[in-house]
Amino acid sequence: MGLCPFHADKNPSMTVNSETGRYKCWSCGAGGDVFTWVMERRHVDFPEALEILAREAGITLTKRNPEEAARRKSNADAMEEALKFFREQLTRSTAARDYCERRGLDHETREMWELGYAPDVSEALATHLKKAGFNLAECRDLFLVEADSSGGYYDKFRGRLMFPIRDERGTLVAFGGRLLGQGNAKYINSGDTPLFRKSKVLYGFNRARAKIAELGVSVLVEGYLDVIACFRAGVTNAVASLGTSLTEDHAQMLKKWSTQAIILYDSDAAGQKAALRALEIFEAQSLRARVAVLAEGEDPDSLLGKRGPAAVQEAVARNVSPLEFRLLSMEKRLKPAEPEFWAEAVTLLSATSDDLELERHLIRLAPQYPDLKDPAAAQKALRRMVERARPSGKVPAGGNVMPPRFGGRTETKTHATSLHAAEVVLFRALLEKEFRRQAWVFARNPDLMSTPAGERLARAVGASFPVGEPIGEPTLWLSRVGTAEDQDLLASLTLDLRGGEVTVEVLTDSVAKLRNLAATRQRTRKQEVAKTEDEKQAILLAMRRQNPDWKEKAKDVEDRFD
Ligand code: CTP
Ligand code: MN
Repeated sequence: MGLCPFHADKNPSMTVNSETGRYKCWSCGAGGDVFTWVMERRHVDFPEALEILAREAGITLTKRNPEEAARRKSNADAMEEALKFFREQLTRSTAARDYCERRGLDHETREMWELGYAPDVSEALATHLKKAGFNLAECRDLFLVEADSSGGYYDKFRGRLMFPIRDERGTLVAFGGRLLGQGNAKYINSGDTPLFRKSKVLYGFNRARAKIAELGVSVLVEGYLDVIACFRAGVTNAVASLGTSLTEDHAQMLKKWSTQAIILYDSDAAGQKAALRALEIFEAQSLRARVAVLAEGEDPDSLLGKRGPAAVQEAVARNVSPLEFRLLSMEKRLKPAEPEFWAEAVTLLSATSDDLELERHLIRLAPQYPDLKDPAAAQKALRRMVERARPSGKVPAGGNVMPPRFGGRTETKTHATSLHAAEVVLFRALLEKEFRRQAWVFARNPDLMSTPAGERLARAVGASFPVGEPIGEPTLWLSRVGTAEDQDLLASLTLDLRGGEVTVEVLTDSVAKLRNLAATRQRTRKQEVAKTEDEKQAILLAMRRQNPDWKEKAKDVEDRFD
């Protein structure tokens, strides 16, 4: 047992079992085998972990296909040679360097991103590669040169600032080239090649990956310069798709390393439309997404240039939920006087499972409802429409409730769904030092709970800690609470994101919610008791009338009622 490296562990929470070869953290839920360990600790993918461990174990992995490996090697060499050439050209071109300086791409940034320049000459790279001994037909497959009708080759990129594109593992697989000035085809990007599928590569991912894993959050921007701007602003978990819209593969890549993606696209109409599309892809892959909304006409790059790093960081931090973003973009398109405005609003609102957010928007939108002057009445009417629009009165999955996940990788099954969301918050607070005392006061009260599972947990907590809250990390006391099943349920709560991060407000809110539910239950129960009481009286009365020794019999009946 030792300190868990996957969260800020103060007391040992992680067990490693040499028999099963597995580790498990009781506090944060991380778990797996030696391969997941290396993948998570070093932020590498499975093949890379395999290589690292093979090296450590003294095993040589045989490549499945030596020819394929040789071809890859020669492709990689050609690409690196082209990059060397482009970088050399940048140091030689005053025009290109001036352009960089104008766009805030200083020497350090150029070095970091390995920026280059493709001279405006038709056969510069082709000649260079040929001299260096590369087969130009192969270079053509790599989208570096093109064949002309006379059997020669000319450069694909001319007069362009060059952005090398490396894949997840740092292999150079493609280039993007931007014209130094205005003109047609602002960007040219490598097409798909033997090394490169643009639907599977994200610009900047190899550099951002460690930070993405650390924060559990990725930032998705539109272009090369936006990624670079984000990095310069200290937002080093930014990546971009490459002149294409986001694909399922991209979303899967991000999901592997983060639990949340923040979309930070240009604020123009095209960018906002792309953001709506990206949201859908993230939701389809069940990766939690948020949207950062920029001021009109801005993108991260222009924002950095005009208002500095803090403005970019702020823009990322001021992200909104998918629902809010969809409403905002609908509100830009339609006016409250149009019926479509309300039809779309109701459809959007009916899809959320977050009551608090729903209320917030109902309150915000109600005063704009055209026919009803009284906002309270408008709110009520809207709420009714929203409820009716919900499929069979049920709240669809999705919205802000996401399947519980840890660190974007290890999926652990929980039974936490048997708890009410407010109970989840309360018991989760019990696991957190900061809120433990406050939470304990409520978490040991079975009457406050609104599910059988919650009641059972509360009884277990009350029985184990009757006089004071548990002390120390959960690992130290979890094993004392109830049955193994109870312990499992409690431990799994760290993975249940319902209710969001625990704060004093969230905790207070949840307790209030549970109290309300309890009060409602109590009222119903009182009515039932009253009804029983009436019946009891009626029976007693009847017996008294019928029977002289009714008192004895009444006692009997009374006992039975108790
Ligand atoms: N893009 C492209 N082809 C184009 C225009 C754009 O492939 N003709 C891709 C590029 O990857 C580019 C991204 O879409 O980085 C975003 O496009 P845009 O916002 O137009 O370019 P910026 O990156 O903002 O570049 P700049 O600031 O120089 O205009
Ligand atoms: Mn842009």
